Amino acid sequence: MKHIISPTDLTVTELSELLDLAEEIIREPKKYSDVCRGKKLATLFFEPSTRTRLSFEAAMLNLGGNILGFSSADSSSAAKGESIADTIRVISSYADICAIRHPKEGAPFVASVHSTIPVINAGDGGHNHPTQTFTDLLTIKNLKGRLDNLCVGFCGDLKFGRTVHSLINALARYDNIKFILISPDELRVPTYIRKEVLEANQIEYQEVRNLEESMPELDLLYMTRVQKERFFNEEDYVRLKDTYILDTKKMSYAKQDMLVLHPLPRVNEISTEVDDDPRAVYFKQAEYGVYVRMALIMKLLELEE
Ligand code: CP
Repeated sequence: MKHIISPTDLTVTELSELLDLAEEIIREPKKYSDVCRGKKLATLFFEPSTRTRLSFEAAMLNLGGNILGFSSADSSSAAKGESIADTIRVISSYADICAIRHPKEGAPFVASVHSTIPVINAGDGGHNHPTQTFTDLLTIKNLKGRLDNLCVGFCGDLKFGRTVHSLINALARYDNIKFILISPDELRVPTYIRKEVLEANQIEYQEVRNLEESMPELDLLYMTRVQKERFFNEEDYVRLKDTYILDTKKMSYAKQDMLVLHPLPRVNEISTEVDDDPRAVYFKQAEYGVYVRMALIMKLLELEE
């Protein structure tokens, strides 16, 4: 049985098969409308979500399966002090597969140790968000046509942004990838990502503060929200939250085929005027989240294609 706790829990070959299946689902969705009949997905969300929880649920419903779960810690017995280990032992007898989002880094891993069903990390604190990464990779592969030979800019909260950490980890396995990490000093990518992922694998990267100057070089720009919920101090959040706002003027410095991604939700780091630019693909990206999660559920349940 396989769990998905980190984006690199799938090999590059397995990832390629997952993305191929997601693309096949996009082409022929009806073919897959009954493959999960009789199966149940539990969505255990101890932290707020719109896209991840609802796209997991839409994915299972699209496959003909059923869903159960909760959308906040307050509405589960975690509010009475139940451990994640006890929760997953019980859920293992109610469902065939589960997706867990939790504010504590490592909570989905702990769940996987005590689970008899596949566990998918749907975001753990500021650590990892592997299914967002699979969504991002499907978006890049489908709209850019490749996952190698890319100059990728990450902009905003690179310290707490788990989607950034996961995507850097995943893209670092492809050829000729260069990263430009655009953030204020306080929100730099964590040291473990720089040392253990980028430097250990001799990946080319730069850390800069200025977004405009980087724009002409980028093939992809991955914008991120400053994560208010992970700050200890409101004053720091207020000071940093509007450091970067992508607008049409900044977009005018970019290549004609550069793509703008964002895991969403957006606050005000991308001006709504950018939404009409054909290079802004973040809503398409959110749609792709359903297809890639359909493919992942099928792979983890070892269902016939
Ligand atoms: N991208 C993402 O994780 O969005 P939600 O927080 O709405 O699930």
